[in-house]
Amino acid sequence: MRQTDVRPSPNAVWLRDNCACPQCRDPRNGQKLRSVTDTDPGVRVVELTAAKVVFSDGHVGVPPEVTPYADDRIEDAKDLWARIDPPCGDWAAFETDPAHREFCLDAVLRVGFVLLRGVPDVLTAAAGFGYVRETNYGRLFDVRVEATPVNLAFTGLPITPHTDNPYRDPVPTVQLLHCLSNAVEGGDSGLVDGFHAAALLRAEDPAAFATLTSTPVTFRYADSGAELTATRPMIGLDPRGRIREVRFNNRSLQPVRPEEADAFYPAYRAFAEILYRPELQVTFRLGPGDCVVFDNTRVLHARTGFADTGDRHLQGCYADLDAIASGLAVLRRRPVPGAVDTLRALFAGPGTADYLGEDVTQAVHMLQTAACAKAAGAPPALVAAALLHDVGHFTGEITGHDLMAGTDNRHSHVGADWLGRWFGPAVTEPIRLHVAAKRYLCAVDPAYYEVLSEASKHTLRVQGGPMDAAEVAAFEAEPYGRDAVRLRRWDDEGKDPARPAPAFDDFAPLLASLVER
Ligand code: OGA
Ligand code: ZN
Repeated sequence: MRQTDVRPSPNAVWLRDNCACPQCRDPRNGQKLRSVTDTDPGVRVVELTAAKVVFSDGHVGVPPEVTPYADDRIEDAKDLWARIDPPCGDWAAFETDPAHREFCLDAVLRVGFVLLRGVPDVLTAAAGFGYVRETNYGRLFDVRVEATPVNLAFTGLPITPHTDNPYRDPVPTVQLLHCLSNAVEGGDSGLVDGFHAAALLRAEDPAAFATLTSTPVTFRYADSGAELTATRPMIGLDPRGRIREVRFNNRSLQPVRPEEADAFYPAYRAFAEILYRPELQVTFRLGPGDCVVFDNTRVLHARTGFADTGDRHLQGCYADLDAIASGLAVLRRRPVPGAVDTLRALFAGPGTADYLGEDVTQAVHMLQTAACAKAAGAPPALVAAALLHDVGHFTGEITGHDLMAGTDNRHSHVGADWLGRWFGPAVTEPIRLHVAAKRYLCAVDPAYYEVLSEASKHTLRVQGGPMDAAEVAAFEAEPYGRDAVRLRRWDDEGKDPARPAPAFDDFAPLLASLVER
């Protein structure tokens, strides 16, 4: 057999079954036309290259592209957490910006939840993530105090961490809770990563972990119109023993077999004690318009108690993870705009905003700075650095207005880190150091301070004032320190409303030539 370019040596039956030629796989939809029984178990490969495979049954086919699919529901595909800052989304951005939608969907899959602000209603949010799972509670359900509660959620009692509806098979894999009002004292929300807790149990008490992964327990819900039961272990594993699903709900758990109680109770208790550890819980407060979307097979939710007379009203609904994974995969097919297009949009959009107390816009300021660099004969990377030095003002979480109001937005670092996705250090590092360069020049060149604009003098104070001797020595040792000082001087020149600014596209070829990745 001649074999070139194919790694690792594949099994002949596997190759025959996965043959990618148009007779074996319908080119219109990629679906396989063959059944496993169509392959001779004794088939051999006669010839194999990257583009062609000849089999002993006479078929001339095409080797498949090998994509190592993996189960994205198991612990290995997740970022486990204890206390984290909740990933936050914004509904208006979710609707208009595919990148933001991608962030939110990805957060539910990898972190286990996302907290969205400005959501009009729970069904609209559910439609953004997939499809509502209708249940005996309806397409949505109200969570507020009721006179005759069929569920403790409809009282003001505190609720310990739990997953919802473990009595359903299949269990709803996603839950949404949307807040209409929450004007009570208490009624705060908490989330716990059940996968992290299960992994801790496995490490701290392997026998308890073994019991909870192997003892089927029944959960049950009954009211006048429904009677639901499901029987499963509390911690579900995949066939390779990895954590895949957690069901935990003290309210609906039914008695285990009496003969299993001696092993079950210590294990159940050990898991509960981990799940209830305050240091594992993320806590936040839902206000009107907030909606938390979470993986109900992994993340447990809880709330603190509140007075039953107060005004607190949530609406919930269920949905499923498969649609989120699908939506994310489709979103990721979109062509990602390249560096030049993204930067052009930045200059044409947020860049047209005022530049912190100067008489020019952010974009004009950066274009003028680049023009100064070019006129001084700076190398292309330094011209690009001059052109892009302030992008951190509109890519960071904290704005330039916060900087003027006294919070250092570290825009030099934010901008340099952000640009690092495309450009190398000759572009990013002078940008990272351009604020330090101002503090440096103020220390070594007394005349320099006088050149600064009023706004620049103001931000200097917020940024730490002139450098001390040790900082000066450290700055002079920086490989890109000299470039940063040159950039800094052009930066100070590029604030002149009377001077014409070049167009962004004058620099587009230069930028394109510097993109490294
Ligand atoms: C629920 C629930 C939490 C809350 O309805 O499933 O757990 O904050 N509610 O009221
Ligand atoms: Zn609940």
